[in-house]
Amino acid sequence: METDPRLALDLAGIKMRNPLIAASGCYGFGFDYLPWVDPRDWGAIALKGMTLKPRAGNPPPRLAETPSGLLNAIGLQNPGIDYFLEAIRPRLGELGCPVIANIAGESVEEYRELAAILDRVAEVSAVEINISCPNVRRGGISFGQDPATVEKLVGAVRRVYRGPLIVKLSLEAGDIAAVARAAESGGADILSLINTLKGMVIDVHSRRPLLGNITGGLSGPAIRPVAVRAVWEVAGAVSLPLIGMGGIASAEDALQFILAGAAAVAVGTANFVHPHVAREICRGLQRYLDEQGMGHYSELIGAARG
Ligand SMILES: Cc1cc2nc3c(=O)[nH]c(=O)nc-3n(C[C@H](O)[C@H](O)[C@H](O)COP(=O)(O)O)c2cc1C
Repeated sequence: METDPRLALDLAGIKMRNPLIAASGCYGFGFDYLPWVDPRDWGAIALKGMTLKPRAGNPPPRLAETPSGLLNAIGLQNPGIDYFLEAIRPRLGELGCPVIANIAGESVEEYRELAAILDRVAEVSAVEINISCPNVRRGGISFGQDPATVEKLVGAVRRVYRGPLIVKLSLEAGDIAAVARAAESGGADILSLINTLKGMVIDVHSRRPLLGNITGGLSGPAIRPVAVRAVWEVAGAVSLPLIGMGGIASAEDALQFILAGAAAVAVGTANFVHPHVAREICRGLQRYLDEQGMGHYSELIGAARG
C-alpha cells in the first residue's frame, strides 16, 4: 500500500508509515504471513514474546473459540533469545517496517538481561515489556499487579535499554491507572494496552476445563469495550503516548481507541480471520479523513475526551 503522509507518525522515536501495529503473539516473527500480506502494510510489527531460554509453552489444547473472542493459553512458547539473534535477526530487514521486540521474564534480572541484549540489536526499533508474567521471586503473582514492582522493573530495563521503551499493561491489575503512572515514573516512553483478560471454558461432555492450562487469555471483539475504557482511563492518568488494542478488526474499531486517546493501535486476533486487516483499516482511516476533511489522523487522538 502506498504511503499516505496523513497516517505517518513518529511514536516516541519509532518512525511508522501508519498507526497500525501487528500485536505481539499474533504475528510470529513477522514472516508467517509473508505469502499473503505485504509487511509494509503495517506501521510496525511486534514480535512474539521472547524469554532468555526457549519455552515449550503450555500443554494442549491451547486455543478455544468463544463468542466474539478467542481464549488462548500458549504459555509464551518461543525459541529463546539466542535463536532469535542467530536465525531471526539477520532476516528482519526483509520486513521493511519497524520491528518491536516483546520480552517476558520470571525475574527483574531476566527482563534486564534481555533488554541489555536488545540494546545492541539495531534491527529492533523498540522493546515492549510484557508485565503480565508470573514473578517467580514473589510467589508467582504477576509483575503487572503491583505498581511498586512495575516501577522497579521498568526502571531496571530503562537503565540498560536506550531505545523507545513500551510497557504493556493488563487489566489484571485492579487499578490500571496506578500501574500506568508507575510505568511512567520508571521511565517508559510508551504504554500499550490491553493484554488478554483471564477466562476459562468448560467442556460439558468431558466435564473438564477445555484448555490444558485450565485458564487462558481472552482476546478479540469480546474485550473491545473493556479495552476502550482502559485506554480512556490511562489517557487521563499519564502523558505518555498510548498504543490501544483489544478486539480491533475495522477502521471504526481503531478510531474508537484513537478518539479515546491512543496515538497508535495494535491488531492481534483479527489477523487470524482477515490477514489483510492492516491494509483495510488504513483505507478506512483514509476514507474517514476524507469525509471529515481532516489533514492528519493525529488530530483525532483523544478527541472524544472533549
Ligand atoms: C495467540 C495469542 C498470543 C499472544 N501472545 C502474546 C505475547 O507473547 N506477548 C504479549 O505481550 N501479548 C500477547 N498476546 C496478547 C495480544 O498481543 C493482545 O494484547 C491481545 O490479544 C488483545 O488484542 P486483540 O484482541 O486484537 O487480539 C497474545 C494474544 C494471542 C491471541
